[in-house]
Amino acid sequence: MASVPFDQLDGFIWFNGEFVRWADAKVHVLTHGLHYASAVFEGERAYGGEIFKLTEHTERLHESARILGFRIPWTVEEIDEACRQLLVKQELQDAYVRPIAWRGSEMMGVSAQNNRINLAIAIWEWPSYFDPEQRLKGIRLDMAEYRRPDPKTAPSKSKAAGLYMICTLSKHAAEAKGYTDALMLDWRGRVAEATGANVFFVKDGVLHTPVPDCFLDGITRRTVIGLARRRGIEVVERAIMPEEMESFEQCFLCGTAAEVTPVSEIGPYTFQVGEIARLLMNDYANEVRPGQRMAAE
Ligand SMILES: Cc1ncc(COP(=O)(O)O)c(C=O)c1O
Repeated sequence: MASVPFDQLDGFIWFNGEFVRWADAKVHVLTHGLHYASAVFEGERAYGGEIFKLTEHTERLHESARILGFRIPWTVEEIDEACRQLLVKQELQDAYVRPIAWRGSEMMGVSAQNNRINLAIAIWEWPSYFDPEQRLKGIRLDMAEYRRPDPKTAPSKSKAAGLYMICTLSKHAAEAKGYTDALMLDWRGRVAEATGANVFFVKDGVLHTPVPDCFLDGITRRTVIGLARRRGIEVVERAIMPEEMESFEQCFLCGTAAEVTPVSEIGPYTFQVGEIARLLMNDYANEVRPGQRMAAE
């Protein structure tokens, strides 16, 4: 199936305060963000015309920029409003929302103290990050060779473009071997996360998930923990060694794009698509839909 490249979709992009036609939302090749990955972004989803946890995402975007040493010259409220207006302008109800902020072209050395900070927002239809049929059976993950870096080595709390370099490499290596994604360990050799989603395991009715001390504490991760606790399911955040995966019964990934996706295999370890994974998959699907949300935590 031939697909239309992303720079040739239709509609509008919010670009530095204005709605421009999709094809005209361009940057110059001499852009600091492109050369040195001085860019931060968000991934959000709209369901039924409402962007789920919009303000939390926008606040994280601001915080990611602050960690990279720049300030986005629009407030959280202004960015929220721009996202909402763009969703209406794109005439979409269920969609993916991608704000990105980056350093511009005024300086092209490593130091770029005076570069303009740009902000763009694009919204498009992106139904399921993983193939829906595979999701129900549980996806298969390879063990990644790259590890999540020590927070002293990289600004791991920022959703910074540069941190995705090892994610793309790991996902490509996994796909080349027929897997859907890869599980990354952290710099200490502990279980960390997948290339674009957090990970949970189930054992004896209890959820176990790694402490997010060198990778994103995902907004979906926090939502799932709340949903599980509301169901009376115990959630333990702790250091998890890879060998422990042998004893886990179920596993799932979660993230804005991935939503809740059961996992059937990670390298040599296998898991069932069990009741808790399915329950949380459904609870999350209800939680994100306006009107179907369960009572607040
Ligand atoms: C590397 C990585 N970890 C975790 C997550 C999950 O974060 P969230 O649930 O906030 O989307 C994402 C997705 O944004 C991600 O890219």
